[in-house]
Amino acid sequence: MEVSVLVGSQWGDEGKGKIVDILSNRYDIVARYQGGANAGHTIEIDNNKFVLHLIPSGILRDNVICVIGNGVVIDPQALLDEIALLESFNINIKGRLFISQNAHLIMPYHKLLDSISESGSNKIGTTGRGIGPCYIDKYARKGIKVIDLLNKSVLEEKIKLNLEEKNVLLRKIYNQKELNIEEITKDYIEFEKKISQYITDTPSYLNNAIEEGKSILLEGAQGALLDVDHGTYPYVTSSSPTSGGACTGTGIPPTKISSVIGIVKAYTTRVGLGPFPTELEGEAGEKLRKTGAEFGATTGRPRRCGWYDAFLMNYSRMINGIQRVAITKLDVLSYLDEIKVCTGYELDGKRLKSFPTDVERLNKIIPVYETLPGWKSDISKVRYYEDLPVNAKDYLSFISEKSGFEISIISVGPKREQTIEL
Ligand code: GDP
Ligand code: IMO
Ligand code: MG
Repeated sequence: MEVSVLVGSQWGDEGKGKIVDILSNRYDIVARYQGGANAGHTIEIDNNKFVLHLIPSGILRDNVICVIGNGVVIDPQALLDEIALLESFNINIKGRLFISQNAHLIMPYHKLLDSISESGSNKIGTTGRGIGPCYIDKYARKGIKVIDLLNKSVLEEKIKLNLEEKNVLLRKIYNQKELNIEEITKDYIEFEKKISQYITDTPSYLNNAIEEGKSILLEGAQGALLDVDHGTYPYVTSSSPTSGGACTGTGIPPTKISSVIGIVKAYTTRVGLGPFPTELEGEAGEKLRKTGAEFGATTGRPRRCGWYDAFLMNYSRMINGIQRVAITKLDVLSYLDEIKVCTGYELDGKRLKSFPTDVERLNKIIPVYETLPGWKSDISKVRYYEDLPVNAKDYLSFISEKSGFEISIISVGPKREQTIEL
């Protein structure tokens, strides 16, 4: 009756999709608990590459049930596109996908407001998927939930109420065309016809499954440093990717969680704006980006790249309660003569004791590095820890000691088989 939370430990794109796919053959259910189609989780199987945005990465194992929890914000069109994509690969969804009736819906005005706010001076480099505006409405208690799709008059009334307000905002403040109530209502009624079969009371479903002895993997999206409470605010997403979010986002209580698994990239990346102490500028950053194919799975944007940050990771381990980790993309570092690891931050000549999440201090800190020798050989075909070059093993020991975690999986390529289990 294992209930594990799998979290991104850095700024997202750590390789959660690949590791969920690897682990999901040991679980009965995989559930997403927050975020929305801002996520892009990549899974490579044989010659096929899947990028999932909303549907949990367990869907590629046909004996696994997938749940989209109440903490997720759902863009119905993105969901239907994803279902169609999976069906085109003959992956059966029916009876295997459940969607929380309490999840909030992304509406066309959320995407519009996201793009408008990104065109101003408060830009944070969002994915443009309407995530922030949808969570704003959720917390302002104005949101439209999946369950509202099932009652036409409630749906119409809620769209009307929201649009009355949004249209004033669009016209008077942003100088934009108003949105049409009838058109939006018609589209969402159409969505209801296509997705009503998946809608259910997921907290009851999940808790009953636990009672029956089933095991559940809770798949986080984004990463700890993008958490609205614990991340580098305001350069964060609008949900709780950290392990705590897994409880509120699914209705599984903390007393039922058995373990927390962190997904950790062997170096660091970030998409969008915000502080990044170990970022590599210029040619060195470009080379790492190219070697790691670091381009956004959702937006295609180039990811900023830099050295592994053990100081950041200690913070992430603490707030998530991470017990074991999967290290991903170790193969990407194989070209380097020397590899730097950040082991601490200095501010005004003093070593910091804890990770500063405020942008003002983060922009001023100086990372303290230790340098390790590279291994300079292709490790993408290695399948056993013993067969890794000594310098690669030393690198792993060093980052694990400095970050205070135990490594249980090492990933040396995007494909299923490119995985070393310890
Ligand atoms: P996620 O959002 O955490 O699921 O990660 P993304 O899918 O956005 O980005 C990770 C990228 O790295 C994807 O293109 C994966 O196919 C790829 N990937 C995952 N693990 C490895 C690995 O160990 N080595 C290499 N070279 N690529 C990997
Ligand atoms: P996965 O699950 C990396 C980033 C955006 C932006 C900030 C806010 O694939 O790891 P949002 O659209 O959420 O309002 O954008 O968060 N961001 C991600 N970065 N991986 C993700 O998801 C991300 N989802 C959002 O780039 O900086
Ligand atoms: Mg991603």
